Amino acid sequence: MSALLYERAMQILPGGVSRNTVLRKPHPLYADHAFGCRVTDIEGVERIDFANNMASLIHGHAHPAIVEAVTEQLRRGTAFTLATEVEIRYAEHIVNRNNGFDKVRFVNSGTEAVMGMLKAARAFTGRYKIAKVEGAYHGLYDYAEISQTANPSNWGMEAGPEAVPVAFGTPPGVLADVVVIPFNDPGRAIAILDRHRGSLAGVLVDPLPHRVGLIPASEEFVSALREWTHDDGSLLLFDEVITFRSEYGGAQDWYEASPDLVALGKMIGGGFPVGAIAGRGDVMDVMNPLADTVLFPHSGTFSANPITMTAGLVAMEMFDGSAVEHVNSLAARAVEGIEKAIVEAGASACVTGGGSMFRVHMKATAPSNYREAFLTPDESRRLNLLLDHLFDAGFMMINTCSAATSTAMGTEEIDALVSAMAEGLAKVG
Ligand SMILES: Cc1ncc(COP(=O)(O)O)c(C=O)c1O
Repeated sequence: MSALLYERAMQILPGGVSRNTVLRKPHPLYADHAFGCRVTDIEGVERIDFANNMASLIHGHAHPAIVEAVTEQLRRGTAFTLATEVEIRYAEHIVNRNNGFDKVRFVNSGTEAVMGMLKAARAFTGRYKIAKVEGAYHGLYDYAEISQTANPSNWGMEAGPEAVPVAFGTPPGVLADVVVIPFNDPGRAIAILDRHRGSLAGVLVDPLPHRVGLIPASEEFVSALREWTHDDGSLLLFDEVITFRSEYGGAQDWYEASPDLVALGKMIGGGFPVGAIAGRGDVMDVMNPLADTVLFPHSGTFSANPITMTAGLVAMEMFDGSAVEHVNSLAARAVEGIEKAIVEAGASACVTGGGSMFRVHMKATAPSNYREAFLTPDESRRLNLLLDHLFDAGFMMINTCSAATSTAMGTEEIDALVSAMAEGLAKVG
């Protein structure tokens, strides 16, 4: 059945899909329904969901409290050319989760949140260059995506990584205005930033960047960037679109230093499209439409729509301190089990991660940056075999062999994944 659907899809969707992440060979599978941590496809096969819509479903699927609240709101309307009270209630909740959040503005995706954050930084500083970490994924905005797919043939020297475009047709001006720094290497990063003193609007960092290897940013790296941006008059910008799930106030709680602005998304939509920009009140006020000069005029037709606001508020109220601890302890249990399985299988593999996420690499030692995490053809082949084994055994993973836990899971699901992983690793080696 999925094969037939894909034939139709191929006629009218480029590549037959609306998002490349759902591609599978020979064809994508199509979902029928899901509840909690289990998804059933239209062939009737049920799988335990460790992908959680790319780490966005913190309570798994169709949580009854979210379904009920959203259903009630659906009957009252989905979007108005009026503000709603739930938007204020949700903004109060988000702002109360972290001392660094004075104000928040909601948007509709993580891409939009990162884009808005970069534009706010430019408007505030009056500068236009952006620095970002090599290999880090921050969505589709031209400036944020530079170097995300850099490879050994084009990434240049480690002491000064090239700004490599992702999309053909990226304007050369974008490449000139993005400064690429290596992850977790304060010495090299600061030396590069020093060459752009006085011209950067901000430095963009994900504290646990998935594509860079799902390795937590070190305290030294974050504090070096904080100090440098502070001295330079540029802003420290965190992308917590994924990592806000790591602690009650986001992964930024791991560090002594705080960012000026933070982009949020994924989990805070309670299962619906969302993004948000939160942070320092004086910076956020570049979007204040009541100012004499509005430095960054900002709008969005579906921004803060009451469906997303309702779902997000219910989801985040349920994601309290003990829920955070629950999902994090499940991930820690999985990491421990997989590490043991790697040793027992004698496999050339390792696990990285933090908070409620982990990633399996087909490398004997844990990578420390994008270049080290980059897959050789043989690692890629073995990783795909492992992913296929897990899929056939009934587990959905993110296609880098990363996983995100949810409150819908318990130790039973973790232990099941660990034993499937042990079988897979024994096969793949
Ligand atoms: C760290 C990070 N930032 C931004 C984005 C973009 O978010 P969205 O897909 O909602 O546009 C993603 C999406 O995967 C992400 O992982």
